[in-house]
Amino acid sequence: MPDNQVRAVALSVSDMSFSIGGVQLIYPMSFQVTSGRRLVVLGPNGAGKSLLLRLCHGLLQPNAGQVHRNDLHPAGRRAHAMVFQTPVMLRRSVLDNVTHALAAIAVPPAQLHGRAVEALNRFGLMGLAERPARLLSGGEQQRLAIARAWALRPDLLFLDEPTAALDPSATRLIEAMLTDLHAEGVTLMMSTHDLGQARRLADDVLFLASGSLVEASEAQQFFNDPQTAQARAFIAGDLVW
Ligand SMILES: Nc1ncnc2c1ncn2[C@@H]1O[C@H](COP(=O)(O)OP(=O)(O)OP(=O)(O)O)[C@@H](O)[C@H]1O
Ligand SMILES: [Mg+2]
Repeated sequence: MPDNQVRAVALSVSDMSFSIGGVQLIYPMSFQVTSGRRLVVLGPNGAGKSLLLRLCHGLLQPNAGQVHRNDLHPAGRRAHAMVFQTPVMLRRSVLDNVTHALAAIAVPPAQLHGRAVEALNRFGLMGLAERPARLLSGGEQQRLAIARAWALRPDLLFLDEPTAALDPSATRLIEAMLTDLHAEGVTLMMSTHDLGQARRLADDVLFLASGSLVEASEAQQFFNDPQTAQARAFIAGDLVW
């Protein structure tokens, strides 16, 4: 993108920190998520990736600093949605899981079925529509979680390790879906521990270690010329925590 073109900001975090019971879990950090880009959050286990996503989505409130997000959305849409590492499914059918999420954002009853069917078709789940969602395989549940989030028509989608528990073919499928969502203009902020996936998907990278933002850069720069010893060690597979 040419430098003179203004990049819209989907999310802006300034001096945000988070602690529980006096334990500092996220040290003050600032960064922006550019609209339409795919930001991948990397870091070893316990680095704070999941906490960061929850703070950005608004499930947790920072102790200091700000998260500026566009929470305004037209009726029947969500400004932002989140897909968790372990999908949270209601004890209902696949179809009802989507209609329920749509009803919760006040989609008119007459549109519920149509929008849910559209989402299931979009992600190849229509054949499973009447199955109890909790009986789907892990990969199918993750696909349903993404379909359900997509149905909310978010501008910004948070995903916490969406393929961590999946086999290579389910992972490829999810990656293809994320590529499609990106092509549709959805801004993505996702964590992964899969460096290959990060290389395939990331436009930008946030690298966390021990609750601190160590590096924020474009993906190419991060992988080809990391600026810190910690990032170099992580990419080489030598930084365990
Ligand atoms: N509710 C909580 N109370 C106390 N400590 C917490 C809480 N939630 C997270 N932590 C701690 O904060 C740190 C960061 O946790 P987080 O789940 O964000 O790590 P992560 O980078 O997502 O790790 P992983 O790769 O294992 O998913 C961990 O040390 C964790 O034990
Ligand atoms: Mg995590």
